[in-house]
Amino acid sequence: MQVIQNCAVIGAGTMGSGIAQVAASAGLPVTMIDASADALGRGMQRIQDSLARLVKKGTLKPEDAEAITKRIKPSPELSEAGGADLVIEAIFEDEAVKRATWEKLNAACRADAIFASNTSSISISRLAAAVANPERFIGMHFFNPVPVMKLIEVIRGNRTSPEACATVVELSKRLGKNADRGQRLPRLHLHRVLMPLINEAIFAVYEGVAKPEAIDEIFKLGMAHPMGPLTLADFIGLDVCLNIMEVLQRGFRRSQVPPLSAAAPDGRLR
Ligand code: CAA
Repeated sequence: MQVIQNCAVIGAGTMGSGIAQVAASAGLPVTMIDASADALGRGMQRIQDSLARLVKKGTLKPEDAEAITKRIKPSPELSEAGGADLVIEAIFEDEAVKRATWEKLNAACRADAIFASNTSSISISRLAAAVANPERFIGMHFFNPVPVMKLIEVIRGNRTSPEACATVVELSKRLGKNADRGQRLPRLHLHRVLMPLINEAIFAVYEGVAKPEAIDEIFKLGMAHPMGPLTLADFIGLDVCLNIMEVLQRGFRRSQVPPLSAAAPDGRLR
């Protein structure tokens, strides 16, 4: 197992900036890379706002917030990922764009670097085909807001090595997260359960069953969800939800009712 000492995060959006923040908060020097200067500026602002909340709450000292911010170097150049032990890619959920980015990173980075994608739905094995060492390629799926959510789904591709997996699980713990060693896509544990819920909520609006606010209220009042499924869909981004749903639709062929619900021996699943 390798102990990660520094990392590069590709993409300064909501997820990329959140990942950069938690890595820097764990003491790692981070290079946050985005071709867009605007996106880099917004990403750094998001990090400062998030740290300011913690300072205001009294859970972070102002000098620590400053030190965390200083550990993050924003850069527009992909080549700045060249010295990183670990590269985490958190760009738009589009397979062709991700593969093109990984080809460039493969040329720019060290041969012993670990490559991780934050994809929520694309096959890790297919993305890994863009790099020379697929055994060092893995999925690290974070949740929004990254500084708050305690889970990272660690996804192996067909050729991901046990060492790469152990390295990323160890790092996830240092980031203060629980690492769920997921199986291969499209079997990401969370989305195969969450997305059908969001899908049905959207159908309910589409079919005029209820207004979005009413559906969300049911889940907040009746299930103690912090936000209803439609607010959550907006929070994730409808374009991202659509991508995930399409991957799940292609990846699963199933009957309407899972046979296990009738066949569980004692009428319980757990
Ligand atoms: N940075 C740091 N802290 C933050 C934060 C941020 N960006 N956002 C919220 N917080 C903290 C607040 O400081 C607050 O902390 P305390 O309880 O210690 O005071 C806490 O989180 C709750 O925040 P708020 O009181 O402001 O607001 P809230 O109670 O409405 O909670 C929420 C906000 C945490 C986002 C909550 O609504 C929630 O948990 N929503 C569900 C989020 C969710 O399901 N995320 C997963 C989406 S799926 C995904 O991300 C994967 C994918 O592939 C797309």
